Amino acid sequence: RPPLRLGIAGLGTVGVGVVKIVRQKADLLAARTGRAIEITAVSARSRDKDRGVALTGYAWEDEPVALAKRDDVDVFVELMGGEEGPAKDAIEAAIARGKDVVTANKALLAHHGQALAEAAEANNAVIRFEAAVAGGIPVIKSLTEGLAGNEISRVMGVMNGTCNYILTRMQDAGLPYDEVFAEADALGYLEADPNLDVGGIDAGHKLSLLSSIAFGTRVDFDGVALEGIQRISIEDIHQAAELGYKIKLLGVTALTGRGLEQRMSPCLVPADSPLGQLKGGTNMVVIEGDAVEQVVLRGPGAGEGPTASAVMGDVCDIARDIRVSTFGIPAAQLTKAKSAQSNSP
Ligand code: NAP
Ligand code: HSE
Repeated sequence: RPPLRLGIAGLGTVGVGVVKIVRQKADLLAARTGRAIEITAVSARSRDKDRGVALTGYAWEDEPVALAKRDDVDVFVELMGGEEGPAKDAIEAAIARGKDVVTANKALLAHHGQALAEAAEANNAVIRFEAAVAGGIPVIKSLTEGLAGNEISRVMGVMNGTCNYILTRMQDAGLPYDEVFAEADALGYLEADPNLDVGGIDAGHKLSLLSSIAFGTRVDFDGVALEGIQRISIEDIHQAAELGYKIKLLGVTALTGRGLEQRMSPCLVPADSPLGQLKGGTNMVVIEGDAVEQVVLRGPGAGEGPTASAVMGDVCDIARDIRVSTFGIPAAQLTKAKSAQSNSP
């Protein structure tokens, strides 16, 4: 079979991780998928930046849209981020040409997932986004494939590593929120707009994507009741500890008689429970289904290796011709569920 040719837009933390896997594991990837996986072209803002990885042999495009349109690119891998702008434009350009897309961009999909899924299906393309939710944990694949025989009743978990790091440090070191926030900033954990993390928005994006896949509903980010961790004080942490609890930014989604209930908010969890024991940047997702009962997935929620691992899982599926609809079922069949609450003012 001919090689699968990737065009990668974005050579930051995740993009560099993907380049490393493609370069270092060529034989393994070919053995597992039955074809070579190659990078033909890349794009980023700065051509001259030393990224700590060789980019020799790859064509360079200044514009992500130009990369997405190249004839020698079969799969457009979007690793720039941003809910509008170049990421959206380039994904739309790739889809319009029938190219498959792999992205880690939860913000874009939380806001434009339905339209992009419809466009992809109209052009016989697939969009895969395992890396967008819970980093290295294969939660989307679990829902769409491994648990496809289940009616899902509830999905819940910790889906933002930065918030979990901040809360864990406050608990373990007894430090106030502002001090730990500054520490997370210095360590480079925070998104460019930190409110995406500490405001619960990033985790809310992820929850809205999981809801769609779990319940066959259209992505409804506005329907997520959101509360961040900014107002959690060290006194709150101490009081929770005295009662045997820890505070976690917990997402819960369920389709009930009241509609689609999506909440992302700080919650008390028993200190000795698996969720209570979750440390640092680790994520945990609990899926409940009628046949399987309960599945617990735990792993790194961010970082170069874990996130690139998820991107490559999607690339390998495309190489093997595994073509699952964006949200698990055809976009036209996704229902518009009544929201049980809303984060709109
Ligand atoms: P990052 O380190 O900030 O890298 C972003 C890359 O995109 C950079 O290489 C940047 O170029 C490039 N870029 C930005 N705007 C561009 C433009 N207009 N044209 C061309 N290139 C452009 O970001 P990241 O952490 O790798 O995240 C990438 C995506 O993965 C985001 O959607 C993020 O939410 C998602 N994600 C990240 C993680 C994680 O752990 N980091 C985990 C899960 C999902 P320069 O390098 O030249 O500036
Ligand atoms: N800012 C995100 C987090 C990155 O901390 O979980 C991974 O999506």
